[in-house]
Amino acid sequence: TTQNTAKKPKIFIARAIFADALPQLEESFEVTSNQSDEVLTPEELQKALVGMDGALVSGGDRIDAKVLSAAKDLKIVANIAVGYNNLDIPAMTAAGVMGTNTPDVLTDTTADFGFALMMAAARRVTESEHWLRAGKWEKWALFNNPLGVDIHHSTLGIIGMGRIGQAIAKRGLGFGMKVIYCNRKRLPEALEQECGATHVSKEELLKTADHIILVLPYSAESHHTIGEKELSLMKPTATLTNIARGGIVNDLALAQALKAGKIFGAGLDVFEGEPKVIPELLACSNVVLAPHVGSSTEQTRRAMMNLAIKNLRAGLAGQRPPNLINT
Ligand code: DGY
Repeated sequence: TTQNTAKKPKIFIARAIFADALPQLEESFEVTSNQSDEVLTPEELQKALVGMDGALVSGGDRIDAKVLSAAKDLKIVANIAVGYNNLDIPAMTAAGVMGTNTPDVLTDTTADFGFALMMAAARRVTESEHWLRAGKWEKWALFNNPLGVDIHHSTLGIIGMGRIGQAIAKRGLGFGMKVIYCNRKRLPEALEQECGATHVSKEELLKTADHIILVLPYSAESHHTIGEKELSLMKPTATLTNIARGGIVNDLALAQALKAGKIFGAGLDVFEGEPKVIPELLACSNVVLAPHVGSSTEQTRRAMMNLAIKNLRAGLAGQRPPNLINT
């Protein structure tokens, strides 16, 4: 008769999570989960959220007014990602739903990958491998193999100087690079000094950087930050790396610039319309392509999941989640 009849909050897990996390969640919550990992359509997501108190989602799950319209009990949606352009925060706030993301835990891992893509594009790592596998390596040659451009002591241009941008700047310093950046807001001087980074206009950055890396959030304002006009300002020896979000770059304009040799190469982890990649990009040999894996190490993906769960638990316990986005 002393049985605890307090009802457990109901949560919906929209994507597969590391299996060992499930039993712990089931102790505290009534869990419904999409462990098949199939991406849900907006209609399926809307249905799945009916009667739920909380949800764990990831970048492919769009949470907007329509999806929320029947989710009358929902209090929190915890995103397993730092970028949250999939969450319509004003619509969530209007519906009384908290949104959270996973900053900090993926900063260095993602900065490492940005550097890896930039270096691979500059030194033509994947092209060299394809060349070798195609049986073209007959001898050591001074230049009759894919020649790259230097990274060390070149100028690194960072567009978007948040946590990941700053971590990339510090890596650049280790390579003896001159670091320039542009951002909506200039960093405080002490932070600029710590990153060894100089604030410049976007136009100056495009014209002078040898390697440009995009690390800004996606929004209506950042849509096509890099298009035909911007690409035409870049040096023909420069590379462009996008580890931020598809849509920040006009992919078709980039493919045309790569094909025409207007820039030297590119490294892309994100695409407009991903997981589809336009054939024009697939046809370019001077671009290194990755399937949105910037944060994809075992430790970091677990840390992202754990932080999202921490946010979810806090929100459902009536506390302020550590990474609340709504203001
Ligand atoms: C992020 O954390 O924003 C990554 O892009 C994964 O979605």
